[in-house]
Order: sequence, then structure tokens, then C-alpha cells
Amino acid sequence: MTVTNQPPSTEPFATPLDVLLDRVEKDMQDDLVPAEIFNNEDIFRAEMERIFTTTWVFVAHESEIPNPGDFVQRKIGLDPVIVTRDGKGGINVMSNYCRHRGTQVCQTDAGNSRFFTCPYHGWTYANDGKLVGTPLMHRAYGTPLDRDEWGLKKAAKVDTRNGFVFAALSDDVPPLDEWLGGAGWMLDVITKLHPAGMRVAGPPERYMVNGDWKTAAENFAGDVYHLPTLHASIQEIEMIEGLQGTCEIGRTYEFENGHTFIGHAWTEAIGPFFTHWGYGALEGYSEHFDLSGFDDTQKFVAEHQPPTVGTIFPNLSFIRIFSPLPDGPPGVFTSFRQWQPVAPGKFELWNWQFVWNFQDEESAQRDYVGGQYCFGSAGVYEQDDTVAWEGVQRAAASPWMRKEGMKFNYQQGNNSPVDQAPDPEWTGPGIHRNTGYGEHVQFNFLRQWLRTMKGDRA
Ligand code: FES
Ligand SMILES: [Fe+2]
Repeated sequence: MTVTNQPPSTEPFATPLDVLLDRVEKDMQDDLVPAEIFNNEDIFRAEMERIFTTTWVFVAHESEIPNPGDFVQRKIGLDPVIVTRDGKGGINVMSNYCRHRGTQVCQTDAGNSRFFTCPYHGWTYANDGKLVGTPLMHRAYGTPLDRDEWGLKKAAKVDTRNGFVFAALSDDVPPLDEWLGGAGWMLDVITKLHPAGMRVAGPPERYMVNGDWKTAAENFAGDVYHLPTLHASIQEIEMIEGLQGTCEIGRTYEFENGHTFIGHAWTEAIGPFFTHWGYGALEGYSEHFDLSGFDDTQKFVAEHQPPTVGTIFPNLSFIRIFSPLPDGPPGVFTSFRQWQPVAPGKFELWNWQFVWNFQDEESAQRDYVGGQYCFGSAGVYEQDDTVAWEGVQRAAASPWMRKEGMKFNYQQGNNSPVDQAPDPEWTGPGIHRNTGYGEHVQFNFLRQWLRTMKGDRA
């Protein structure tokens, strides 16, 4: 028998997952991230249970369901949900599992219906979730089943911000506005340049990516460091220039609960005319804007260093950039996208193009095409990104790299001569830095991931 001098573990019931998460926490203190958190069966299962059932998750934009009866089918983690506009105008987020045996009662992506009839035995639900019909009810059940008790399960909380519909499967969440915090303030900057707001330009384009959903969320949290390398070909075809300076003109915004954005000081880099993401350089946009509802910092951010990309934890991201098209005048496109986890090392990318409600058809179409051209499934940026992200999950699942205990390097902030300190003059919410260097935004996302995985959402 071997006797060791090791003290008894203080956590005798710690699971292998708990041990791994403790190790992740320790490594993150050294600005390292174990590769094994990506493309990992145990981590993936825990993410579905500990993150997607406990936090606010984006499910739809109100412009997708403007009329009574409209519905879209969506996902919260792995669970299919139906998002409906009921006859009273209310928004419902309901599980797409029949209460009889679980079959999906809604089998289409979108439509308009007052009822959902299960294809298996025909139980029928109203679009507010209530059970309204059971075939052969008298013979099968005698007395009618309780409409509410046997209705579709509903999300514990549903709320909206600027038309963005979020749902939470747990009651134990803060109010949506509180949860969004500074990200809500930034969502205002992005979507309230005009009082009529924005709408989706169509249903989301969807495509599978052999990547870990966190890799994409982290990239959109604000990885500007990859632009001059991964997207060099876009500069080679003279679609864009100055990619080398992208970190220099980067401006980061870190908010509570892991929400992060990164912007660019466009007016400083390109010229004073290039205000509001470059809208200021074009006709037909900024003359319609009304920023009177913004505070002074929002006005400054929108005008001079607007957010280019961002991630609202856990899996909603945003991008808005000036888009020079090969034919015709340029535009500025706005996309929101969701990284839908499918399996370890695999997610489905859902990409919505947004347009302004004040735009005419031609202008809206131009921005939509610009968005697809850059970040559609065949977009010039998208093709670069998704291929690189595949490499992350491949390295993470490598038996050799697992044996090596591979850790990814997040040490960009350590010895850099660039001033990466939080901006002491910053008057907005959260932390602002005047550089794109440092990987601080990625860490803001990953720290929230770790907190949530460990059950500490405070
Ligand atoms: S499973 Fe839906 S009616 Fe039986
Ligand atoms: Fe990219």
C-alpha cells in the first residue's frame, strides 16, 4: 500500500468537471486558457445545462413577428422554442415539445397560425401555449384536460429591448435591462440613430460551422488582432485598406455580465467626414438621424468611435461596417448573428441582416447585399473566419495536444508597450480602453463563461 503525505482533499465530491473548471480559473489568472474547454463533450453538456437554461438568450426580433399569429421557430441552447405574437399582441416563447409525448408541434421555421397541432396524436395548442384540443377527447379522457396545466411549457421570463426579444428559462435572472447593463446602452447607440428603428431584412441565413460556439462569440467580442492577417486578401483586392492599423485605432468597451464591444476611431483614422460608422460620408443616412435621446457619451461614441463588433453573452453578436461594393455605391450594413450550439465542436451560424425603417427599398437592398457580400455564408470575411475557427476545435480535440495539456495564449496584455489601461476620462458605463490590443474583451466574455459554469452569476 502506498502512503502519501498529501492532505485530504477539501472537496471530496468534486467532479472531474469541477476540477477542470478550477484549473481553468487558475490558468486564466496567468492569461492562459486550456484548449480543453473547446470541443469538449463534458463542457458542452454543462454549457447547455448551466448557461443556456440560466441566462437571458436572444430569440427573435419583433420585426420578425409583427402581426397577431406570426411565429418563428428558434433555439435556446439545444431546445427548440416557438416565438409567437398572440391575438392580444403579446409575445410568447414556448417549448416546441408536445406535452403528450414530446413531438415538435411546430415543424416549420416561420409562419402565421392561431394554432399548432401536434403531428403525432393531434393535440392542439393556441399560439399563447394553451391546450385547446385533444382528438377523441371524450372517449380518450372523459373530462377535458386542463388547458393551462397541459399547455406548452413557457419560458420563465420574456422581455424586449429595442425590439430584440430575449427569453430566460429560469426565474432566477435579473430584469433584462439590468442584465444588459452597458450593452443595452450600446444597443441604443446601434439601433436608435433613428426613432423608427431597424427591422430584419429577411429570415436569418443559417449554415453549419465546424467550430466551438465560444470561439465565434469570442472573436466577435472584439478580436481585431486577426484582421491584417486572416483578412489580408480583402486588402489585396483593394476592397479595404489600412488593416495593419486596426489595433491602433481599436477602442474597447467591456460591460458587466460578459457583454463586450470593440469599435474603431474612424474619424481619427479616415477623416472628420467619416462620422457614424461612415454613414456621414454617404448620402441618405445621417441627415435622417436624430440623436437627441442619446447622452453625450453615446453621441461621442456614435460619431467618432462606434462599435464595429460585439457580443452579448452568451451567443448574440453584432457587426456594422462600411461596405464598399464592387458595383454601385457603398453602404453601411448591420448584422446580428447567433452562434447556435449543436454539438461539441459544431455550431450553426444564424445571420440576420438589418436595415433602417426609414430607408427606401433601393438603399435597404444595397445594405443587405453589402452585408451578404461581407458576412453572408459566402461573404469575403465570413469564409476566412469560419475556416480559422475550425482549427481551434481541431487543436482542442487533438489527442496529442490533450496529452500536452495545450493552453492557448491570452498574454497580449502582459508586456505590450501600448497603454491598455482603462480610460480614466471615460464617462460611459463599463470599462473603455483606447486600444484594440490586449485581448481584454475576450477575457471579459470568458470570465463570464467561467462564472456561469461555476454557478456564480453574481
Ligand atoms: S405527442 Fe403530441 S399529441 Fe401525442
Ligand atoms: Fe474576422
